[in-house]
Order: sequence, then C-alpha cells, then structure tokens
Amino acid sequence: MLRVQRCLASPGKRAYHDLVTFPATGKPVVAHGPPGYSAVSGHTVTVFGSTGFLGRYLVSKLAKMGTQVIVPYREEDEARHLKPMGDLGQIVRMEWDIRSDEQIAECVRHSDVVYNLVGRDYETKNFDYHSVHVAGAEKIAAVSAQCGVSQLVHVSHLNASVSSPSKFYQTKALGEERVKAVFPTATIVRPGSMYGFEDRLLNQIAISPWWWKLNQGKTQIRPAHILDVAQVLADLMATPQVSRTLMLPGPSTLTYAYLLDLVSAVTLRSFHSYAPEIPRGIATAVAQVAQAVWWPIVSPDEVTRRFMDDSNVPGDWEELGITPTEIEPLALKYLRRYRTTDTYTEPVAFPARPSVVSA
Ligand SMILES: NC(=O)c1ccc[n+]([C@@H]2O[C@H](COP(=O)([O-])OP(=O)(O)OC[C@H]3O[C@@H](n4cnc5c(N)ncnc54)[C@H](OP(=O)(O)O)[C@@H]3O)[C@@H](O)[C@H]2O)c1
Repeated sequence: MLRVQRCLASPGKRAYHDLVTFPATGKPVVAHGPPGYSAVSGHTVTVFGSTGFLGRYLVSKLAKMGTQVIVPYREEDEARHLKPMGDLGQIVRMEWDIRSDEQIAECVRHSDVVYNLVGRDYETKNFDYHSVHVAGAEKIAAVSAQCGVSQLVHVSHLNASVSSPSKFYQTKALGEERVKAVFPTATIVRPGSMYGFEDRLLNQIAISPWWWKLNQGKTQIRPAHILDVAQVLADLMATPQVSRTLMLPGPSTLTYAYLLDLVSAVTLRSFHSYAPEIPRGIATAVAQVAQAVWWPIVSPDEVTRRFMDDSNVPGDWEELGITPTEIEPLALKYLRRYRTTDTYTEPVAFPARPSVVSA
C-alpha cells in the first residue's frame, strides 16, 4: 500500500524513506521500481534450505516483495521450481556444500539477511543429525557473522531440548546454542509440525496410517500452517532484529487419533481403521531394519518422536501480527487428491473434536 501511495505521489522518484542503512555494516539499501513482482526492495537475502518444504514458500514470499534471493542448492533440479518465483535475475541459484566455508561465504557475501532452514528428519550415511543441525548451523552463523550479515534467522523446532530422548530434538537445541554463541543477535524460530501441500504430516497419515497409530494415537501435536510460518519468516526481514526465540505452535492441541479421523473423513477412505496398532518395540526394530535401504522410510528416532507430546508453550503469533490457521478448513485443499474419482466432489463431514483436543 505504501508503495502504491509512493508511486502515485511521486512517480519515478525515490523518497527518503526508501533508503535504509544497516547499522552493522553501513550498507545502504535502496528500494525502487513499481510495486509487486517487479519491485526492487534493495535487499539481498540468502535462504539455506530453500529447496525444502518451508523454503519454497519463504522464497516465494520474499521474491514477491522484490527481494533478490540467493538459493543455495545441492542438486540442481531441486532448485528449478524456485526460479520463476521472482522477476528476472532476482532468484540466484548457487551450488553449496554445508561443510565448505568458502561456498557458504560465496552464498552470503552480498546478503544483508540470512535464513537457515536446513534440517533433516533422518540421518544418512554422509550426514548425521549433529553434522546438519549443530556443526552446519554453527558454520552458517559463523561465516555470516564474518561476512558482516546484519540479520540471521535460524529455524529450529518447537520441541528442541538438550534433554530430549530424541536425537533430532537434542541436536536442534544444541544447534541453537552454537548459533547464539557465534551470532548473538540471531533470531531463533521454533515452529511446530507444519502442514501444507508437500507436508510429511497429512500426506504421510493418508499414505501410511499405521505409523501414526503408535502410542494408540494418544500423542499430542500442535500443527502449524506452512504459510503462516513462512509469513512470519518473511516479515522478520522488514522488522528490526528480534534477538530471541520465537515459538510458533499451531493454534490447537490435537492427538494423532484425531488427525487419523480427520484425514479419513476428508479423503472419504477408512484405511486407518484396518491398520494394525504396532507395539513400540516392533516399530523400533522395523525402523532399525529400514536403515539398511538407501531411501528414507522411517528412522528409530522418528519412532521415539511419535511417543512425545509437543511442547506446551504459548505461541508468539499475536506479537507477530499473525493469526494461526486451524487445520480443518484447509484439510480438504491438501487432501482431496487422496479421494477417488467417485468421491472427489463430495462434501466433508468433520469428526467431532474429542475432549483431550483443545483450541
Ligand atoms: N516440516 C516440519 O513439520 C517442521 C517442523 C518444525 C521445524 N522444522 C524445521 O524447519 C526447517 C525446514 O523444514 P522443512 O520441512 O522445509 O525441511 P525439508 O523439506 O526436509 O528441507 C530441508 C532442507 O534442508 C536441506 N538439507 C538437509 N540436509 C542437508 C545437508 N546435509 N546439506 C545441505 N542441505 C541440507 C535440504 O536440501 P536438499 O533439498 O538438498 O536435500 C532442504 O533444502 C528444518 O530445519 C526443520 O527441521 C520443520
């Protein structure tokens, strides 16, 4: 809106408020151009982890504001879909390796804001949780500090804790500590499990319901909408650095049993009612055997996480000016593809929320 007013008031001219100077570096940022897709915000931003689920939405939101986005990639094809999200020259793809200081420096050299969304739910033979969430996160923060980056936003997890029985959550917490040690003003963002088109929550429940019946479906989860989290991250670029941890749990506490019912009601398929309830010992043994193949199926740490309730902390949404979205109104949008041709257009009858489930 401000941009539109500016254009109408003084077409083609820059105003004083278009100029921002970063206190740390003294680097000037000059916004210019028309509003929207072809705008130039003057900012250059690097998004590590841009090829992932959250990354695509963040890059899209940043590019829409006319920001030049550096998108580091490991596999070129994984970054192709990002290119049309911005105007010509605004999305710059760069190959990188999380172990290389030089390549990280290349990626952040011209940036005033850096986002680190890098994370992995499972370990591989080349990268364990520690190398990605702790060593990798520290390297990105340290190199960004050396290169004079003004603002670092590091994405962790709602359940990050050094005392967690899950190695994933433990390393996420250790990573936060290391990032803060080398980049003290960094913003740590802790979202809950996220849902959306490419999620590993609703889609996985629809595909493999038996993995979500662990713990008799009693585990409590606070799912957050991917677009809400991406909006918070994008807004952080335009606000002064928030040097603390932001909690982003979903608006409601749900159980896996409720989510199984919801997915079943929306997809009009009742697979989950036939799926067996697997005891924890057997699930862990199966997950250990599954490590022998080279594609991700389920990891033993994931089984541990299926028995852990999401952290019961208040969210920081209100302060950030965003109202988090409930899962039910969006479930059909993300799950309709699991319906059959016969039921594709049928209306949905949502299951009743049981008493343990709260808003
Ligand atoms: N999804 C959720 O429900 C959820 C909930 C809370 C917090 N988070 C956190 O939010 C962040 C983004 O989540 P997401 O769902 O977008 O994750 P994602 O889809 O799994 O994407 C992860 C990103 O990290 C990159 N990455 C992973 N291992 C790497 C390595 N060894 N070297 C370089 N890059 C590597 C991936 O690059 P490649 O494409 O090259 O593999 C990808 O761009 C993560 O830190 C995640 O832990 C996610």
